[in-house]
Amino acid sequence: MIKESVTVLGTGSMGSALAGAFLGAGYRTQIWNRSHDRTAALVAAGATAHRDIADAITASPVIISCLTTFDATRDSLRGAEGLTGRDLITLNSGTPAQAREFARYANGEGARFLGGAIKNVPAAVGNPDTLLYFGGDRDVFDTHTATLGVLGGDLEFLGAEPDLAALYESAVGATLLPALLGFLEGAAVLASRGLPASSMVPHSVKWLQMIESLLPVLAGEIDDRDYTRLGSSVELFHAAVTDDERLGAETGVDLSWHAPMHELLSRAVADGRGAQSITALIELLTTRQRSTL
Ligand SMILES: NC(=O)c1ccc[n+]([C@@H]2O[C@H](COP(=O)([O-])OP(=O)(O)OC[C@H]3O[C@@H](n4cnc5c(N)ncnc54)[C@H](OP(=O)(O)O)[C@@H]3O)[C@@H](O)[C@H]2O)c1
Repeated sequence: MIKESVTVLGTGSMGSALAGAFLGAGYRTQIWNRSHDRTAALVAAGATAHRDIADAITASPVIISCLTTFDATRDSLRGAEGLTGRDLITLNSGTPAQAREFARYANGEGARFLGGAIKNVPAAVGNPDTLLYFGGDRDVFDTHTATLGVLGGDLEFLGAEPDLAALYESAVGATLLPALLGFLEGAAVLASRGLPASSMVPHSVKWLQMIESLLPVLAGEIDDRDYTRLGSSVELFHAAVTDDERLGAETGVDLSWHAPMHELLSRAVADGRGAQSITALIELLTTRQRSTL
C-alpha cells in the first residue's frame, strides 16, 4: 500500500539513505537536490525528483532536509514559496545558534520546525537501534513519529527548544574526532612494527567498553564538581606525557596532535589540580563560570 508523501531535500550520502528508506517503506518519496543529476539513482528506485525546490516543498506535508548546513538549507529555500503550513524537519549538523536562527526563519515562513540529528552513518538508516533525536515543536514530532521511525527505531524528543538536537549533537559528537585520531595513531604505531590495524580491534573494543562503563562516574564528578571518585588523577596523565614523546621517537609516528592536551595537563598541574581526577580538566575548559551555565 502506498503511504503518504514525504519530501527529502538533499540527496548526498545521508539524504539518499533517508530517501531510500522512505521508498523501501512505501512512501511516495519526493526529492530535490542542488545537483539534479545526483537524484538519478533514487528516481530509478521510484522517487519523484523536482528541479524546482518550491515544487518539492509543496508536494508533501512534511519536508525532511539533509543538506550540509543550516545556511545551505536556508539559501536553497530562499525565495521558494510554499512553506506555509508545512512541517520542516532538519537532520543536518550545525551549532545551537544556527539551529535557533533557522527555526526563526522557518517559523517566519509559516512552517512548523523540528530540529533533529541522526546519530549514525548512512548504512545504518532504518535499523531498529539507530538513534535520532529532536528538539522543537512537539506536535510535529508526535504527528510524524511513524514517518521518522522509518529512519531509525530509537527516536527521542529532547524538549521544546529548537536547538536541543544541535546542542546534543555538538556535545556528544565532541568525542568523535579525538577517538578516531587515537585509533589512527594506534594503527600507525602497530604499522611501525608491521602489524595490521585489525589486530588491535578486539583490544580497542574492550578499551572503549571500559570508557563506556566509566561515563556515569565521570558525569557524576562533573555535575557535583567533586573530582575525587575516579582514581585516575591529572598527575597520572601528566606523567605519561614523556612516554608519548618517547613513543613518537621510537616508532616515527607523528604525535604532535597531543601538544594541546599536554599543555592542558600542565596548566592543571600548575593550577594545583594534580591529585584531582582527570575530570577536573573541565574547570580549565569552561571559560564561563560554571555556576552560571
Ligand atoms: N554521512 C554521514 O555519515 C552523516 C552522519 C550523520 C549526520 N550527517 C549529516 O548529514 C548532513 C549531510 O551529510 P552527507 O553525508 O549527506 O553530505 P554529502 O554527501 O556531502 O551531501 C551534502 C548535501 O548537501 C548539499 N549541499 C551542500 N552545500 C550546498 C549548498 N550550498 N546549497 C545547496 N545544497 C548544498 C549537497 O548538494 P550537491 O549534491 O549539489 O553538492 C548534498 O545534497 C550533514 O550535516 C552531516 O553532518 C552525515
